[in-house]
Amino acid sequence: MAGERGAAGRKRPAAIVTGGASGIGLGVTRRLLSDGWDVAVWDAAQTALDQASAELGERSERVRFYRVDVTDEAAVAAATDAAAEAFGRLDGLVNSAGIGLDAPFDETTAEQFRRILDVNVVGSFLASRAVARHLGRGGAIVNIGSVSGLRGNVGRVAYGASKGAVVTMTQVLAVELAPRGIRVNTVAPGPVETPLTAALHSDAIRAGWHAAVPMARYGTVEEIAAVTAFLLSDEAAYVTGQTLAVDGGFCAGGLKRG
Ligand SMILES: NC(=O)c1ccc[n+]([C@@H]2O[C@H](COP(=O)([O-])OP(=O)(O)OC[C@H]3O[C@@H](n4cnc5c(N)ncnc54)[C@H](O)[C@@H]3O)[C@@H](O)[C@H]2O)c1
Repeated sequence: MAGERGAAGRKRPAAIVTGGASGIGLGVTRRLLSDGWDVAVWDAAQTALDQASAELGERSERVRFYRVDVTDEAAVAAATDAAAEAFGRLDGLVNSAGIGLDAPFDETTAEQFRRILDVNVVGSFLASRAVARHLGRGGAIVNIGSVSGLRGNVGRVAYGASKGAVVTMTQVLAVELAPRGIRVNTVAPGPVETPLTAALHSDAIRAGWHAAVPMARYGTVEEIAAVTAFLLSDEAAYVTGQTLAVDGGFCAGGLKRG
């Protein structure tokens, strides 16, 4: 049981959720709190942290908020130490901090591409490395990938490449960390209603997803959080290195639909 690992006397497992103040990360934070985890919420956006803190702050014993940019190596190390100190143990990490870009490949700048890779790939790597150093023997990491890392979605040259890298990084970490009993998996959401999609998805993009997703709707943060919580939990004790699409059937679909 995750609840039996860690420092003596601390029964509740503890996790860090990056990007945990908004969208999918906030949904994961809520779900883990209700599943009995302590949660350290990391986010780069102070406004989102303030809003999440206003919503969840009354559970101040069990949830802590840290302003952290996951691309800042020193800040990631310091916030990992702070969370481990606050909770007396660490058992899990969910890498949900991420940024999107929807642009044709020949209009995508090198600067945009590098920024996407920095946040979505290097940020997940830095947080995973810092947390793995604290995990000892046992624990789990869940990366939030995307179906755009599994398929060639139009306009996703940088974003899709970054999420494809997350899939491969998941496999490498799963193999390297297996001897220490640490599992690493990726959840690859299809389109989900969050502030990110509210900002990026035009009516045309929404219509395209509705046509391409067999279940013909966007997912909810609760649906992504449920699968993430499962992979983080000991219920998934023999699952590592996997990418699980939570996508209403998008990746299963072919061209013939009628
Ligand atoms: N919403 C979707 O349809 C969808 C689909 C597939 C994958 N995803 C992925 O899910 C994750 C969460 O997306 P979301 O839709 O909830 O977006 P969101 O914008 O609602 O939440 C992302 C959070 O990450 C934070 N963040 C961004 N850069 C950061 C950094 N450098 N350091 C720390 N925090 C940072 C933001 O401040 C924000 O609070 C992302 O990795 C995204 O790529 C989302």
